[in-house]
Amino acid sequence: MPAIEVVTGDITRENVDAIVNAANESLLGGGGVDGAIHRAAGPRLARAGGAIGPCAPGDAMPTPAFDLDPPVRHVIHTVGPVWEGGGHGEAEVLASCYRRSLEVADTLGARTVAFPAIATGVYGYPPGQAAVIAVATIRSTPTNVHRVRLVAFDEETRAHLAAALAAAG
Ligand code: APR
Repeated sequence: MPAIEVVTGDITRENVDAIVNAANESLLGGGGVDGAIHRAAGPRLARAGGAIGPCAPGDAMPTPAFDLDPPVRHVIHTVGPVWEGGGHGEAEVLASCYRRSLEVADTLGARTVAFPAIATGVYGYPPGQAAVIAVATIRSTPTNVHRVRLVAFDEETRAHLAAALAAAG
């Protein structure tokens, strides 16, 4: 089980082997963290994403990190669920985002991975519920990743992630 840390900051500044992108199915870029990662990685990221997409919700696909600063070598693109009230399998899709991203990290030999709060922005997933799913899924997924950093972009998200991590024991 990887060590899990909750931090606040910009995921494009993380010193890890792979950063996870909360993408849309096209993998061509967008707003939010997707936009930040594409701005930092440069135009080759959208070309690489377009070449391997579309990515289904709950799945994860890797590309190189291009212009992102070392040591980041990979971007793992995953597509979260759009929140529709909770009765449409959103929790299972979100859990799959974390699980598949760790599985992809293992195929890359990535040992340290940073995640944003997937689906809690534009896609509207309640951040408290999302944080519980993130921590539970990371703790229960067999992986060679030994350090996971959950990167919050704001204090509310950080508090939810920290509470979920503390409650997990
Ligand atoms: N670093 C870390 N986290 C960030 C950053 C950043 N630079 N920028 C935004 N975030 C946070 C948001 O504050 C939110 O907590 O990432 C979390 C996820 O929000 P979104 O980026 O809106 O992602 P999501 O809710 O999964 O929606 C995905 O939005 O940008 C589009 O193309 C994307 O269509 C896709 C959709």
